[in-house]
Amino acid sequence: MHVPVAIIGAGPSGSLLAWILRQRGIESIVFENRSRAYVEGRIRAGVMEKNAVDLMIRAGVGERLQKESMYQRGVEVGINNTHHFIDFEKLIGVGVTVYGQSEVTKDLLGALDSVGHNVLYETPVTGVSDHHGDKITVTYEEGGVEKTLTADFVVGADGYHGASRKSLPEGGIRMHEKTYPLGWLGIMVKAPQSKPVAFFTYHDRGFALLSMRSPEIQRLYLQVANDENLEEWSDDRIWDELDARMGTEGWELIRGEIFQKDLAPLRSFFCEEQRYGRMFLAGDAAHIVPPTGAKGLNSAFADISVLSAGLIQHYTKDDSSILDQYSRLAVERNVQTQRFSWANTAKYHIFPGTNSFERRMQQAELEYLVTDETAQISYAKQHTGLPFAYWPEL
Ligand code: APR
Ligand code: PHB
Repeated sequence: MHVPVAIIGAGPSGSLLAWILRQRGIESIVFENRSRAYVEGRIRAGVMEKNAVDLMIRAGVGERLQKESMYQRGVEVGINNTHHFIDFEKLIGVGVTVYGQSEVTKDLLGALDSVGHNVLYETPVTGVSDHHGDKITVTYEEGGVEKTLTADFVVGADGYHGASRKSLPEGGIRMHEKTYPLGWLGIMVKAPQSKPVAFFTYHDRGFALLSMRSPEIQRLYLQVANDENLEEWSDDRIWDELDARMGTEGWELIRGEIFQKDLAPLRSFFCEEQRYGRMFLAGDAAHIVPPTGAKGLNSAFADISVLSAGLIQHYTKDDSSILDQYSRLAVERNVQTQRFSWANTAKYHIFPGTNSFERRMQQAELEYLVTDETAQISYAKQHTGLPFAYWPEL
């Protein structure tokens, strides 16, 4: 069997690409290791840049997003129990949109399902070969049987642990990585909003974040060690720690039923190239950011915007000029997103081993941010997202 485009992974990257290509009549097959329920249930960040929202709308899968999402005009910054609002809308005319990533995935997989698209769930890809041949080969396991197919192109949209990057020869693509001695303990809570926008807190006890999924569901995080034991965090301990880091006179964090607790270590990783022969890498397969700033889904969609534009141009106009620039354009944007996510992590977290000078300088930097309009404009531009280099013709 031969297909034009073989997509590995049905996360946000792979499913959006399959859907966009289908809108222009370009055939693809999607391989997904896990079940549909598992992919849809994965809880991740929930803040979308305007461009990511616009891409969903332009692709015709933005209906529920437009109805159920919440627009936020800025963020609130906490500095050792003082609160400061930064109004992105007033500064640069753009805010951010709150809509859970699991909802994005449900909308995309639902749309693919409604047209009977070829998404093979519980079908892991085990290898990719002939990257530089006339056609590229994908090996996969279907119902315990190993099979192969060939494609014009393979898109590795299979996340950080996927098979696409593993198929590269040593040194085939240059990569950079950083692990942090930090983790985020996350909770999902049934409670009304304590603030109308996300609240990023710097505190001597550690970073904390108040975000939301809907008016009734709040998402909160505490900086902890990257090897923290969740068992040691009772609900009361979590609430008391959130109060200690976030509290201020005249404002109270509204508590509610905690219905999920999770722990995520922080990591930065990215590829210096996002193409190897006939294989393109997109989304988490090519880059992971620490969550401070919620850039994961947004940079995945920026990749897919350019890659889909390139594939559409290639198949409908016999012109590969965008496709040939994909790797450079994607990396140029992603390295800036890496820089922002890394700098934003350094801004807010208490790193083990830092002394009072370093902490005072961190605090001074945030004090500068909340009082200087030029600093706020720069922050607002990065927080709300860099432009997409190309958009698919839809
Ligand atoms: N074969 C088939 N599918 C695979 C394989 C494999 N060998 N390995 C992994 N997968 C699947 C995973 O099960 C997952 O569903 O690839 C998918 C990758 O999806 P994501 O990890 O969600 O990555 P991506 O689609 O790039 O989405 C980026 O996810 O991690 C967040 O913050 C990140 O929001 C960003 C988004
Ligand atoms: C979230 O809502 O889960 C969220 C918000 C902002 C971040 C990270 C995560 O920076």
